[in-house]
Order: sequence, then structure tokens, then C-alpha cells
Amino acid sequence: MRLADQSVLSALPELDVELIRGALLAERTSLGIGGTTDLLLIRDHAALPELVTLLREAGIAYKFLGGGTNLLVGDGELPWVVLQLARQQGEVRLEGNAARVDAAADLGRTVTFCAKHDLGGMEGLIGVPGTVGGALRMNAGAYGTQIGSYVREVELYRAADSRIEVLHENKISFEYRHTSFAADDIMLAVKLELPSKPYREILEGIRICNEKRRSSQPLNQKSAGCIFKNPPGASAGRMIDELGLKGFSVGDARVSDRHANFFVNAGRASCADMLGLIGQVRERVHKSYGIELENEVILWIQ
Ligand code: EPU
Repeated sequence: MRLADQSVLSALPELDVELIRGALLAERTSLGIGGTTDLLLIRDHAALPELVTLLREAGIAYKFLGGGTNLLVGDGELPWVVLQLARQQGEVRLEGNAARVDAAADLGRTVTFCAKHDLGGMEGLIGVPGTVGGALRMNAGAYGTQIGSYVREVELYRAADSRIEVLHENKISFEYRHTSFAADDIMLAVKLELPSKPYREILEGIRICNEKRRSSQPLNQKSAGCIFKNPPGASAGRMIDELGLKGFSVGDARVSDRHANFFVNAGRASCADMLGLIGQVRERVHKSYGIELENEVILWIQ
């Protein structure tokens, strides 16, 4: 979508929002899939309420992009503009055992930064790609750790009230790959409380998780991590593997040979290819196991 509304365009410099014309989302998502639209890069969180109000008044649809690592975006010209937070200076600030982290910060870097200051607990999250904000929204987890366990406070933009609020942990519920945040809430910052641990011990935990991940997941290929959530008591990856679907493809969208719940873009896969693959695999699992797999990947399709 090309942003043409004068009331929005003229407000951008004062709000310190950068307009990137015709951004190709294939270059901004880990799957390497996605069409084009105008992107608004937000440098100052405080600009969000006014920016969103202007977009709404002008009737312009928008979506909010985090790290783009758990996302499948439609092909071609997209019917909404995309908002994204710019990385901040000093994105992780420590106060005792607490870390105040900007939502645009990279999750892995945050884990290692805290480790260097003898704050652990998040070792399992080391290889989870994406931003802290994205991890928070989805309650990202791996190897027995989930980010929600360490959250004390979240600063967010609540679209419903059109203002920035701070929510304490007792007002948020974190479940398996699900949180109580509203779909249009935008994560801005989080306060994590982390257990003290010697750096060397944390480093060893990180090394073990990295090794496990490298041996079981296709880290050098374009993917969005696991495509489906694990149904209660079962493993989506194991079921897809048992059906012999590793390597099964639709166009260049392909079930990974290494981990069957990772679908990779093996070349120039389109969103349509990936959706086709997701649909066919879901159908095969349903037919054989009677289980309807639920997407873990977020879909932005027209
Ligand atoms: N398995 C197979 N074949 C496969 C893949 C897995 O037989 O192709 C078997 C494994 O041998 C194992 C079981 O299935 O016995 C579970 O596999 P794994 O340990 O790889 O974990 P997972 O349940 O497939 C989950 C998360 C991952 C996370 C890992 C490690 C989900 C949907 N996936 O995978 O998270 O990294 O555990 O904790 O919850 C993600 O969220 O995107 C993601 C990749």
C-alpha cells in the first residue's frame, strides 16, 4: 500500500517516524517470503498513540512487525502499511536482578548481555530468533524455558485505549505460545527479573542448548521456526516425520529434512506455495491421527 494521505505524511517528521517506500517484506522476514508495502519506522515510542490515531482517522490499515521470524506474509502489493520500532541505544538496562529491555532488542543478544552480568535463567531461549517484543507476545519458549516466567512488567501500546500503559505480571497470563495481550497491543518494553548465576555456568547452559538446536533444527535455511503448535501430549514434528513427509514440497516450500515441523523456503517459495504445503500437511496429519494442527506461525494474508 502506498501511503498518500497528506495528514499522515506531513506529521511523520515531527513524530520522528521514517517512511520507507515499497519495503519488500521478503527481505524482512526469516522465511524470505512477502510482498511490498510502505513501512513506518518508529524511533520514539511516545509517537505511537498519535501515529495510530492519524492512521485510523485516515482509514489506513496497518500491521505491526517485530523481528519477522515467526511470520508468513502474503505475496504482491500488500493492503496495509507496516509499523516497526527502530532499535534503541542502550536497549538493555540493568537494575540489580532486573533487566529493562526495549521490545525491539534482539532476544539472543539480550540473553548474552544479561549472562555477562551474571543474570541467567534464559539459556534455553538463546537460539530463538527475533525480538524481545515478539518473544513476549508469543511467550516464546524452548528447552523448558519460556520468557513469561521472568516477566515482571510490560510497557505496551494499547490500541483499544489509544495509550501507552504498564501492565504488571499479575495482569498478564502466559501460556504455551499464547498470552493474554490483545491482538492489536504493541509491546514496547519489558522488565525481566532474572536469577543470579555465574557467567561461566550460564555460558555452559547456552552451549548445550545451541548444540541441541544445531543438531535438530535447520538453522542455516530460511524458516519461521516451527510451523504448527504441538497439540497437547503430542509432537507435530514427530507426526509429520512418521508420515514420511520430510522433503515433501509445494513449489519451493519444503518440509525440512532435519525437523519435520520446520518448513523451509528452499529457493523462491511464494506465500501461496507455503500455504499449500501447510494445508496439505495439516490434512495428512488430520487423516492419519485425527488431530487438527494449529498454526504457530502468524499469517499476514490478504
Ligand atoms: N521428532 C521427530 N522428527 C522430527 C522432529 C522431531 O521424530 O522431524 C521428535 C523428536 O525426536 C522428539 C520429539 O519429536 O522426540 C520432539 O521434538 P523436539 O525436541 O525437536 O521438539 P519439538 O516439540 O518439535 C519444541 C518447540 C521448538 C523448540 C523445541 C526445543 C513447538 C511447536 N516447538 O519443538 O520451538 O525449539 O521444542 O525446546 O513448541 C518454535 O517455537 O518455533 C520452535 C521451533
